[in-house]
Amino acid sequence: MSRLVIVSNRVAPIVESRPAAGGLAIAVHAALREKGGVWFGWNGEIARNPPPKPELVQDGRVTHATVAMSRRDYNEYYNGFANATLWPVLHYRLDLARFSRRHYASYRRVNAAFARALFPLLRIDDVIWVHDYHMIPLGEELRGLGGDQPMGFFLHTPLPAPEVLLALPRHEEILRALFTYDLVGLQTSTDLAALRDYVRIEAGGVAGDDGRVSVFGRTLRAGVFPIGIDTAEIETLGADADRSEQTRRLDATLVGRALIVGVDRLDYSKGLVDRFRAFERMLEAQPRQRGKVTLLQIAPPSRPDAEGYADIRRELETMTGHVNGRFAKFDWLPIRYLNSKFERSELACFYRASKVGMVTPLRDGMNLVAKEYVAAQDPEDPGVLVLSRFAGAARELRGAVVVNPYDIDEVAGALTKALAMPLAERRRRHQEMLEQLRRRDVHGWCRDFLAALADKAPSARPCGPPS
Ligand code: G6P
Repeated sequence: MSRLVIVSNRVAPIVESRPAAGGLAIAVHAALREKGGVWFGWNGEIARNPPPKPELVQDGRVTHATVAMSRRDYNEYYNGFANATLWPVLHYRLDLARFSRRHYASYRRVNAAFARALFPLLRIDDVIWVHDYHMIPLGEELRGLGGDQPMGFFLHTPLPAPEVLLALPRHEEILRALFTYDLVGLQTSTDLAALRDYVRIEAGGVAGDDGRVSVFGRTLRAGVFPIGIDTAEIETLGADADRSEQTRRLDATLVGRALIVGVDRLDYSKGLVDRFRAFERMLEAQPRQRGKVTLLQIAPPSRPDAEGYADIRRELETMTGHVNGRFAKFDWLPIRYLNSKFERSELACFYRASKVGMVTPLRDGMNLVAKEYVAAQDPEDPGVLVLSRFAGAARELRGAVVVNPYDIDEVAGALTKALAMPLAERRRRHQEMLEQLRRRDVHGWCRDFLAALADKAPSARPCGPPS
């Protein structure tokens, strides 16, 4: 059987009793746990003279092959092109995007170096699966070294409409590199449409009805593969939460008040400032709720050295102080704002104890917190998910209260509705979403993508999982 080789910028193995680093890590971990294989990428460390050869660590059937990064690469590639150029552009934030030729050169240089470090580890019958925006040119670099294996690429973020993507200098070079993969997976049909539009309208290529897309003298297959969660595992964590000491302590501090919970990396794409504003607006409009409801926002700091992240952190601190200063009573704080990371079992307690889960990003590829929130609920007495229409998850989670996160009044109204929602309606909405999450979990996502990658025959339909 062929070996699975996964490449992502960051190798962040999930260790029980340690917080997970984002949805990508959770999904890759699930894929490798099922199949075994190699996970190659950055170990998260900065070194003066990083050795070119990866360090290999065996963990059961999975080999972690990791490299360190130089300070220059960390600044110019990771904080620079990946997170101050690509990330904001992919999330429709041209106002925050920085464009620098030097950063782009570093992006290409790091991808070439990653390919040189990985190539000697590859076997002829490996299947290579590259993840996310940091690593788009990796496939082209591997092909240049003679890598002939099937190669797939999955974009965890949104792909913006061509009008936005065109603002990216060298967009054509990047898209050209993408076309060295055999299969490209995207989160939603909107992302796929953006790729097909770019190819047809901007690059003079052809996007066929069979899922094949041709341009730059190459043809690949592109399809929608919405990423899932390990539904069964989260359901178990949710059920266990009922008996946990942490839930007991949380309940003791709430003294019967309703809890709204949000869990997000501290990132401007997550819409946290608008979320706090909406909560404030709800307290303004509903005096009865004052003293009756608490917003618990978990927001572990992320990419502290990348452009824009210090600003959002400051803004949130100011907002929290403002709302708490305005409404707090001596025995009630409206917003509990925490910059710490929590283990998955601890997050399950917060989800389970809350009446409302607030997931209101301004843009998000999928958002696995939305899915985990639903899976962790007590089916007999579930909380309500308030979900941004601009999260990929809104396409699947039809039982959520879907909102426009820019419309503060609408979100405030949705909170009021969610807090008052009758049990029968909560159960009906939750049941519908849980069934969907059981039908399409992370294992199915992984199987569908790898089956499509293995299927070299021209497909007769646009590829993607059966709905
Ligand atoms: C998002 C990205 C991932 C990234 C994660 C954590 O989920 O899609 O590629 O790994 O954020 O960000 P970081 O910069 O800490 O790796």
